[in-house]
Amino acid sequence: MRKVLVTGGAGFIGAEIVNQLYTVGGWDITVLDSMTEQIHGKEWMNSYLYKTIEGKCRFIKASVCDLETVTDGLKDIEIVLHLAAETGTGQSMYQINQYNETNVMGTSNLLQAISTMGKESKVKKIMLASSRSVYGEGKYECPCCGVVYPDGRSKDKMLAGDFKFYCPKCGAELKLVSTTEDSAIKPVSLYAYTKYAQEMMLRTMCPAMGIDFSIFRFQNVYGVGQSLKNPYTGILSVFSALMLENKSINIFEDGLESRDFINVKDVASCVIKAIDEPKSNGEIINLGSGVNTSVIEIAEILKKHYGSSSEIKVTGDFRIGDIAHNKADISKARAILGFRPTIELEKGLKEFCSWVVLQDKDNNGYERSLSEMEKVGMFIRKQ
Ligand SMILES: NC(=O)c1ccc[n+]([C@@H]2O[C@H](COP(=O)([O-])OP(=O)(O)OC[C@H]3O[C@@H](n4cnc5c(N)ncnc54)[C@H](O)[C@@H]3O)[C@@H](O)[C@H]2O)c1
Ligand SMILES: [Zn+2]
Repeated sequence: MRKVLVTGGAGFIGAEIVNQLYTVGGWDITVLDSMTEQIHGKEWMNSYLYKTIEGKCRFIKASVCDLETVTDGLKDIEIVLHLAAETGTGQSMYQINQYNETNVMGTSNLLQAISTMGKESKVKKIMLASSRSVYGEGKYECPCCGVVYPDGRSKDKMLAGDFKFYCPKCGAELKLVSTTEDSAIKPVSLYAYTKYAQEMMLRTMCPAMGIDFSIFRFQNVYGVGQSLKNPYTGILSVFSALMLENKSINIFEDGLESRDFINVKDVASCVIKAIDEPKSNGEIINLGSGVNTSVIEIAEILKKHYGSSSEIKVTGDFRIGDIAHNKADISKARAILGFRPTIELEKGLKEFCSWVVLQDKDNNGYERSLSEMEKVGMFIRKQ
């Protein structure tokens, strides 16, 4: 049996990977996860995600920042899938130390452990769950000047209700194009900065240490099991909780902002495929659907599936650090890994909604998360 360590393996994407590895067979799986309350609730042993992996792996409840425990966990490990992270983009804008600690120092600690083990380490390859957030606003095109990587939008323009992008050279309106892996790096949140720091650490240290690596830039991953407790991530969870109580939905900006949604099952199977695909070594690979869907469309699909009477209001409110659009170019994943998304958004959302109605709801955190952001000037209400 080959040994694999999944950090953050009790999380949304990690648990799906663990389940698929278990089903494929041939893997001796270790999970290291600190079981943060924000994701797993007060009683972590009752966490939905934890229950899906219980008994399928050796489970270590510890932080990726704990050098001694990480070193123990790495014994005889051949493959490391590094997913442990704090993942709230908005929250990262004021919990700066916490995000650096887990995401940057956690990754540093993982490498330190392998380095300190020296010849005892059997790690051959590390795979990192990075994020499309490193691109910031992503790739656009000006009809006259060609490719443009716009900066974040100005607060003044957004206050005036203008959420579009204009060419810095000629002023023409920019057109969204798919973001390729060689696009400019422009983090607009602390979270994005930490993901890029993780990438750079692997790109610098893995070759020096003689370890292979692959970096995945996930787009918006959704599906059964995603945290309904964490108010800091995911419009699907937030909208769901409100719609099930028929509360009105506040759609930020002009509602046309869009995301590239990819089902967690497609993400997990592709990551697993890359473990033994040498062509993925040393590569950065986008994983998404290649299609962008507007936030209004998402709200409408959810409303239909829940049979909710929630009013959908586009308010022009906005959060600093949110990007306008996300659409990945996935041709590299296709070329290297034969990647093709298999679960269409409508179908995936239907399955997601059927699962959500069976779960405990907790939407109290959402308004609190917005107030926290408002206090530090990161959430702007127009009314
Ligand atoms: N979900 C997405 O859409 C998305 C998009 C891009 C990138 N990612 C990345 O994918 C990875 C997994 O994301 P997810 O959606 O499954 O998030 P998640 O929050 O569900 O999972 C993260 C897991 O890490 C654990 N964790 C947090 N701090 C830890 C620490 N100090 N030590 C050990 N474990 C710790 C949490 O308990 C949780 O189980 C993250 O690295 C995230 O940045 C996710
Ligand atoms: Zn121009």
